Amino acid sequence: PLFVREGTDHPQEITSLPGVVQHTRESLRKEVHELADLGVPAVILFGIPAAKDAEGSGAWDPGGIVQVALRDLRSDLGDDLVIMADLCLDEYTDHGHCGIVDAEGRVDNDATIDLYAQVAVAQATAGADVVAPSGMMDGQVAAIRDALDDEDFVDVGVLAYAAKYASGLYGPFRDAVDVEIAGGGDRKAYQQDFRNAREALEEVRADVAEGADLLMVKPAMTYLDIIARVRAEHDLPLAAYHVSGEYAMVKAAAANGWIDGDLVALQQLTAVKRAGADLILTYFAREIAEVLA
Ligand code: PBG
Repeated sequence: PLFVREGTDHPQEITSLPGVVQHTRESLRKEVHELADLGVPAVILFGIPAAKDAEGSGAWDPGGIVQVALRDLRSDLGDDLVIMADLCLDEYTDHGHCGIVDAEGRVDNDATIDLYAQVAVAQATAGADVVAPSGMMDGQVAAIRDALDDEDFVDVGVLAYAAKYASGLYGPFRDAVDVEIAGGGDRKAYQQDFRNAREALEEVRADVAEGADLLMVKPAMTYLDIIARVRAEHDLPLAAYHVSGEYAMVKAAAANGWIDGDLVALQQLTAVKRAGADLILTYFAREIAEVLA
C-alpha cells in the first residue's frame, strides 16, 4: 500500500506508521521503481486530495491525484509490476464516509455504487490493472464490473474487499489519508461486525457471484479463521490485508525493545500465508522483500 498526496513537494512522514510516508508524485515514482527492482509484484495506491467535498469528486476526476499517479507509474514501468488502485470515497469526502450521505447522515448505498462505477472507469482509463473496492457497499462489485465492461476494460480485474471488518486497527491509516469520520461516526453500517463469521462468508459469496476476480479478507491477524474458511470454500485468488494497526503495533513494540520486530513481522505474515492467503497487502512489503532478496 502506497500513499500519494496532491499538491506537496516533499514526502511527509506519518507518525503512527513509522517508515511509511505520504508520497509526492516524484517520490512515489522512485519508490515504485525500487519496489519493482526488489521483486515486489504489485502496489496499491491511495490518494490524499488537496481538497475534499461532499461527494468525493477527486476520486473520479481524471486530474485527481490517483489518476495522475497511475499515469505516471504506467508510463514509467509498463507492465513490470501490477498496479492496483484502492477504490473508495472516504479519502475524498469531507465527512469521511466511504459513500455519499443523505440528509440524515446515513450512507446512501445505491447512489454510492453509481459513483464507484465512475471511479473504476477513471482508474482503468488512467492505467490501473486492478481496481479494489474497499467501501463495502452492497452490489459494488457488480456495478463496477458492468461499468468496466461497458467501457471495454474487460481485462481490468476487481479485487473485492469482500470481508472487511469494522476494525479498531485502521487508525494509523486514517492518519495517513487525513480522514476523520464526521460527528465521531463509524463504519458499522457497512463494514462487518467482528463477532460475526457467517455474515462475512455471505459477503464473500455475494462478491463471487457479482464477478470478483480476487477476494480479500481484512484485517488479517484477527481474522485468520475467516481467511481459512474462505480459502476452503472458494478457488479464486485470496488476498489478506495486514492493516495499518497491525503494522503499527509491531513497530511500536519493537521501538521499545519489547519484541524483535523483524521476527514478529515475518511470523505474522507467515501465519497469514499459512491460513491460506495467496497475496498479502502489507506495509512490511519493502522490508520483507529486502530480507527475501
Ligand atoms: C477505506 C479503507 C480503509 C483502509 C483501507 N481502505 C480504512 C477504513 O475502512 O476506515 C484501512 C487500511 C489500513 O488500516 O491499513 N477506504
